[in-house]
Amino acid sequence: MSDDRDGDEHELRVSKIRNGTVIDHVRGGQALNVLAILGIDGSQGEEVSVGMNVPSDRLARKDIVKVEGRELSQDEVDVLSLIAPDATINIVRDYEVVEKHRVERPEIVEGVLSCPNTGCITTGDEPVSSRFEVLDDGVRCTYCGTIVREEIASLIDT
Ligand code: CTP
Ligand code: ZN
Repeated sequence: MSDDRDGDEHELRVSKIRNGTVIDHVRGGQALNVLAILGIDGSQGEEVSVGMNVPSDRLARKDIVKVEGRELSQDEVDVLSLIAPDATINIVRDYEVVEKHRVERPEIVEGVLSCPNTGCITTGDEPVSSRFEVLDDGVRCTYCGTIVREEIASLIDT
């Protein structure tokens, strides 16, 4: 079996990683938002490879993000599912994929996104953490009802 069936059979576009996470089947154009969600901007010396708009058999074009030396938390995977609903999370140890799972859209995301409504109780001084219901096409603040459909990645608390 070729080890990169989605890519060009003759060439591996992005090299394999030793230990870490491969986020595969990301919607084309979302790789930079994936990095934003993971809080990766390169300034901490993170070892990251990104492929953008590479041919894929499951999606017309996909992005792929490989992060060396890091396994993702469930919270991170939950938020990733909002912008990359078809993503596969591959955990790699010693060059082998030891776990592979599809992301699942949670019903609720708590404490990870901040409400864009400055009048919302979650954005003031009250000790109320954010809470959003996940809709088919966006997220809705449980407290003030604000619905966000675009640019969800920009709401991520960092
Ligand atoms: N990968 C990697 N480094 C490794 C092992 C795998 O970067 N040491 C990457 C592969 O290039 C691929 C992804 O992780 O993009 C998943 O690997 P694998 O399960 O071997 O590939 P497929 O079977 O093609 O995956 P799927 O069925 O999920 O498309
Ligand atoms: Zn709100």
